[in-house]
Amino acid sequence: MKHLCTVSPLCDYLRAARQAGKRIGFVPTMGAIHEGHRSLIRAARANCDEVVVSIFVNPTQFAPGEDYEAYPRPLEADLAACQAEGVDVVFCPGTDEMYPPGSATSVSVTGLTEALCGAHRSGHFVGVTTVVAKLFNIVQPDVAYFGQKDAQQAIVIQRMTRDLRWPIEIVVCPTVREADGLALSSRNRYLTAQQRKQATCLSTTLNWAKDQIEAGQHDTAALLAEMQRKIEVAGPCTIDYIEIVDAANLAPQPSAEGPCLIALAVRIGKSRLIDNLLVDATPTNR
Ligand code: PAJ
Repeated sequence: MKHLCTVSPLCDYLRAARQAGKRIGFVPTMGAIHEGHRSLIRAARANCDEVVVSIFVNPTQFAPGEDYEAYPRPLEADLAACQAEGVDVVFCPGTDEMYPPGSATSVSVTGLTEALCGAHRSGHFVGVTTVVAKLFNIVQPDVAYFGQKDAQQAIVIQRMTRDLRWPIEIVVCPTVREADGLALSSRNRYLTAQQRKQATCLSTTLNWAKDQIEAGQHDTAALLAEMQRKIEVAGPCTIDYIEIVDAANLAPQPSAEGPCLIALAVRIGKSRLIDNLLVDATPTNR
């Protein structure tokens, strides 16, 4: 496995791979690799000849006061995980490599980024799309892998890729969960034992709402009110949002119809946790 920290040798290596007709799969991450990341790497390994993983804690996607400094950076363990998954190249750039001094260019997707997390994390998605655009330009993958766990991020990246006409296939992989339903996240490690137990309320509440919609409940306001109650009774927390939106364009759904995304973001202790479920509310699926 190659471990590269600068763009130039990575481009040289990938140019040769491309010329040899190899299919390049790319998994961008911020490290602190867990089973969620590993599921993306496995999907890439199963479908591509060259698997590239990037590890870069991207400063521009953290709003002021968020956990940029505290974000875990267990590089040795991450490299071992990549090696164990058969990754070909790990790209771990420094901040100056991704943002050379004087950087003045950003990529932004409008509309989609104003909903859900975008309304609560100022500048977050411009940071994400800018760094992913740079990484896509550097790696020029045939296919890139993202997690359903960050549903809005995956939709925004799909739109950016389509709009900029990059010939990159975006694959969205299912959310990997702990046995009790909690979605894996690097931020779960900030939870105390008690908060960790409380955090299961996110997935149980999402599953409750999914069951209700599948049983024919369309009234989004009633569903959201009960979801809020369920989360609040589980323990102290701050709810950023609980929403039921159109799965394609993230528009709020006053009545749950067709493919919907049930999404929430809740702060428990020091962690901001997000989770979501897709549900198809079309009558034939009931
Ligand atoms: P990071 O949070 O490290 O996540 C990297 C990828 O792993 C994302 O596509 C995310 O959706 C996926 N992922 C995280 N937890 C998952 C889980 N439990 N199940 C399945 N997939 C999961 O997302 C980012 O980094 C950054 O925003 C990035 C795209 C790298 C840009 O900086």
